Amino acid sequence: MGVIDDKYEKMFGKSIAWYERGKTAFAGGVTHQSRFTAPFPTYYEWADGPYKYDVDGNQIVDYVMGNGSLLLGHNPKPVVDALRDHIGKGTHLGGATTWEVLYAEQVKKLMPKMERIRFTAAGTESTLLAMRIARGYTGKSKIIKFYEHFHGWQDYAAIDSGQSVGGIPKAVKDTMIVLPADVKAVERTLEKNKDVAAVIVECNGAHFGTFPLQNPKFLHDLQDVCRKHKVLFIMDEVITGFRLSKGGAQERWNLDPDITTVAKIMAGGQPGAAVGGKAEIMQVMAFKGDKEWDTQKRVAQGGTYNANPTTAVAGIAQLKAIETTDAVAQADKAAKRLKDGLNEAFIKNEVVGHAHGIASLVQINLGYDCNCDRELCNMPYEKIYSSMPSEKTRALRRSVLVNGADGMDWNGMCFVVSAAHNNEAVDRTIAGFSQALKDLRADRVV
Ligand SMILES: Cc1ncc(COP(=O)(O)O)c(C=O)c1O
Ligand SMILES: [Zn+2]
Repeated sequence: MGVIDDKYEKMFGKSIAWYERGKTAFAGGVTHQSRFTAPFPTYYEWADGPYKYDVDGNQIVDYVMGNGSLLLGHNPKPVVDALRDHIGKGTHLGGATTWEVLYAEQVKKLMPKMERIRFTAAGTESTLLAMRIARGYTGKSKIIKFYEHFHGWQDYAAIDSGQSVGGIPKAVKDTMIVLPADVKAVERTLEKNKDVAAVIVECNGAHFGTFPLQNPKFLHDLQDVCRKHKVLFIMDEVITGFRLSKGGAQERWNLDPDITTVAKIMAGGQPGAAVGGKAEIMQVMAFKGDKEWDTQKRVAQGGTYNANPTTAVAGIAQLKAIETTDAVAQADKAAKRLKDGLNEAFIKNEVVGHAHGIASLVQINLGYDCNCDRELCNMPYEKIYSSMPSEKTRALRRSVLVNGADGMDWNGMCFVVSAAHNNEAVDRTIAGFSQALKDLRADRVV
């Protein structure tokens, strides 16, 4: 057994028993594909600020942050206060609510390009609905997506997104056109294929920016090509919304999407998401009182939990805090401190690799360095794949965990930073990361 595995078993011993129970409850042992960490997942009981606490009582500096939802950190006071105020007023009111209107107004205030919106319960539903709206509005059937870009687990989005496609019908696969993240390839396709309704893009690059796009040029060029060919431009801002700026990637880089999908941060850790876009396009969802339109052409949507009261009050509080405080800038500042410290740790330990990333997303690559400005990485796709295969990625996450921090992983690691990551938490992470590199060396991973 290596140094890391030995530490892992000692540190997370009580999680083993929970995993044994989890295996009898869940197919595959866990209830989200990303919650598994080899050799067993770690189980948590509570969280506050930048920290989460596991069943063994370990305090872990958390950079999973609700899979990117918790820009204000765990237990954000405005959200928790709003939820506390709400308890006792009903969990579902069986009709339209004042909160859903206030919530929509708050979303639109930060993202004014979403002229009309619809709520859903998750980012996956939002991208599904966005694609349906695009097909309904244009009368065309195909959607272009990019290799590895992740838009949730719905059938259309799952194609070439790094997930297994078991159970997805061929007819669905045939409606998706998957291209490399290359605007020229999009243009060539649109010149030949006149049946394309929309292009959808993960704004910061595949897998929360693990495979960075050369922005803002990439998104501007993509938007131009979409306009030229009258194809809808869908910005998937599930990760970037309310993070890359208060108004997301579209505000930061001055873009004008036809449709936007948002989730995660907008609901403060509650299950909530939205899709929105130009009023004329979104109008395809409205009843007209014309039977043919209402039953055959209108784009329909259901969803028991769309803007359910607890999500709505949490979301309103979270977005208000983002609007009226410097939380986004604070998270960026903490991320910069972390990124600089991690890069110093690579140098100090003479390990090849680097940390890069935009705003409050810090990406780690082991085994490759480049001349990037540590913000917008220009590493070629093949280098990212070849330097961070899944075994190495898992070893990296394990080594970081046994040294007191956790983050998301996919061909590398991503530290999702929040406004709650104070200097103490960040500096502890950097010291832990330095030890993680030593442990990886001891285990001959680097
Ligand atoms: C860019 C992007 N789109 C969509 C989704 C799906 O969101 P959800 O997990 O809320 O269904 C994700 C989830 O990580 C995502 O990163
Ligand atoms: Zn780089």
